[in-house]
Amino acid sequence: MQTTIDGYGAMVAGGQVYSWIDEPSARAAAPVLRGRSVISDLDLSRAEVDALVETALWLKTQRERGQPHPFLAGKSLGMLFQHPSTRTRNAFQAGMEQLGGHATFLGARDLQLTRGETLPDTAQILSRYVDGIAARFGAHDELIEFMGGASVPVFNALTERFHPIEALSDLLTLHDRFGGLKGLHLAYVGDGNNVCHSLMLSAAAAGMHFSVASPKAFEPDPTLVERARELAAQAGGSVVVTSEPSRAVTGVDAVYTDVHESLGQPDDPQKRVALAPYKVTSSLMAEARPTAVFMHCLPMQRDVEVEAAVADGSQSIVFEQAGNRLHMHKALLLLTLG
Ligand code: CP
Ligand code: NVA
Repeated sequence: MQTTIDGYGAMVAGGQVYSWIDEPSARAAAPVLRGRSVISDLDLSRAEVDALVETALWLKTQRERGQPHPFLAGKSLGMLFQHPSTRTRNAFQAGMEQLGGHATFLGARDLQLTRGETLPDTAQILSRYVDGIAARFGAHDELIEFMGGASVPVFNALTERFHPIEALSDLLTLHDRFGGLKGLHLAYVGDGNNVCHSLMLSAAAAGMHFSVASPKAFEPDPTLVERARELAAQAGGSVVVTSEPSRAVTGVDAVYTDVHESLGQPDDPQKRVALAPYKVTSSLMAEARPTAVFMHCLPMQRDVEVEAAVADGSQSIVFEQAGNRLHMHKALLLLTLG
């Protein structure tokens, strides 16, 4: 059977046109997302996020049906990682391959960066070889510096400030579970870190109610809280910051936490002590709705930020959540590189 790919990545197989551009959400979003980078959660409009979620759900169905979908044949992704990764790296790699493209892993230590080649020079070179770059840097400023030399889309695969594709995937998981996002209530308990920032901005823009409970010294960045409140006001959601876990979780649909010590951070005994009361326990979960789910971006430390009984209990959807990374990464790759 002869298979060809048209200008929109539509697959023409055996005379039958099988096109991702016929999927309505993809058709609407493709012209605006093509060639775009995602560096923070502020880069995408609400309509664009909706389109990514819809496209991810559609791609998930294609995969479940065993329907091949090699719409990115001939395209390649570079994956530049300064820190370890299980989910982000492999979701990009597997996703790119399922879409018919190719992904190359570029460990930061294997590049001439180690000999002082600059980040913009590196980005400029790589842009001549690949169609998109997923990059994980510790410092957000390094990612911005790298972006300065890039002429292909760059995807933030985590910095200390944001983890936007995690948040997009988590919206997909919530949408899949609850049938929509607007009006849902998500509580985040713990360190006001990169994952917290991204969830807060993405949830607010989606018209959700977001409450975060953190110790005062580890609250999310107030400028981002302010921005999230503006987004929530436009979308009909809300953002509450408190230091009381039970205030944050009462009556919510989902409770989320993350590690108390993020990648590249030095061990901080004071932080450990301050965050200890922010562990998600069974009794804290009991204050959420009976139908509430427990979420974590993973990797998790059982019995540190979450009680093992919660992490492995019936309300936990952490592995479903990790699985959904694949579908969201694919949607993002398809709509930006397709
Ligand atoms: N949640 C997440 O980004 O996991 P990895 O660090 O394994 O990519
Ligand atoms: N906050 C965590 C998330 C890991 C996916 C970190 O930055 O290490």
